[in-house]
Amino acid sequence: MSSISSRTTLTKYLIEQQREHQNLPADLRLLLEVVARACKQIGYHVSKGALGEALGSAGSENVQGEVQKKLDVLSNEILLEANEWGGNLAAMASEEMEKIFPIPNRYPKGNYLLTFDPLDGSSNIDVNVSIGTIFSVLRCPDGVEPSEQAFMQPGSQQVAAGYAVYGPQTVLVLTTGNGVNCFTLDRELGSWVLTQRDMQVPAETREYAINASNSRHWYEPVQQYIGELNAGQDGPRKEDFNMRWIASMVADVHRILTRGGIFMYPADRRDPSKPGKLRLMYEANPMAFIVEQAGGAATNGEQRILDIVPTSLHQRVAVFLGSKSEVDRVTRYHLEKKN
Ligand code: AHG
Ligand code: MN
Ligand code: MN
Repeated sequence: MSSISSRTTLTKYLIEQQREHQNLPADLRLLLEVVARACKQIGYHVSKGALGEALGSAGSENVQGEVQKKLDVLSNEILLEANEWGGNLAAMASEEMEKIFPIPNRYPKGNYLLTFDPLDGSSNIDVNVSIGTIFSVLRCPDGVEPSEQAFMQPGSQQVAAGYAVYGPQTVLVLTTGNGVNCFTLDRELGSWVLTQRDMQVPAETREYAINASNSRHWYEPVQQYIGELNAGQDGPRKEDFNMRWIASMVADVHRILTRGGIFMYPADRRDPSKPGKLRLMYEANPMAFIVEQAGGAATNGEQRILDIVPTSLHQRVAVFLGSKSEVDRVTRYHLEKKN
């Protein structure tokens, strides 16, 4: 382990990025520091569990009809309060709020838009399994009064994205479009320390993640792909594949960034008006940006997720992301069935 004095903290890393790569302006750097500080605070509340006010339902529903947990609401408030006064943002949007949150007039406004899933993997809160926060930063179009329309930019326009995992270790994974780096929280010192530079998703994998309890609803290309993986050595792939499903996208994606794999949440036959479960703006887009920056791929089965032009804040999207060879294969199966 490096000595404390030789450590690269998040602050130092971001300042180095600002100096070396002119693509990280000071206001974006400050914004990322504020988001990271909010994640530290959320992580603190997560770790308190039954000793704090973190467990259980908040007794309310979000715009998507999902029951909000106390920690969903608290994490949303922490992110809003941390980010509203810094002067770097024009507006925010969150899984937990139907409408956008324009920066109040009493504060100076900045040039960025922030979207977040304040607490990802809510079903895991009460059972003490890894959960996290996902965020994405876009530029606010010049001269545009922030409205939902200002957020309707494809994921390829993101200037930064990241996630925190509140697990056995608390980590922050970040990209500003110049590779992906992982920071581990030193809880005693309260600082994020760079622990992995330039994360890479291995191109090949023998591991996949999907909620298999939905298999009877899957469309043909997903049935075919998963059928082949499950056939193992006796099937066309001639190899055994292992399956993992944490039910927290952050934790599943973090495993894939660490040792490879493919993560899938496909659209299925249940409700054609809902293409998948995950949300484009604050789940799929930031994760797709990170995974691509780490050499992986991310599609909705037919096209690159980062090319999708959003039409609404909470729109859903099918997600296939991770090791490139597997994402390419399952995407090919979709395109073959379509034509
Ligand atoms: P959230 O807790 O923000 O609503 O997101 C949960 C998502 C994602 O993290 C996870 O991969 C997926 O839902 C789990 O879905 P299942 O309940 O189908 O396992
Ligand atoms: Mn989520
Ligand atoms: Mn959430």
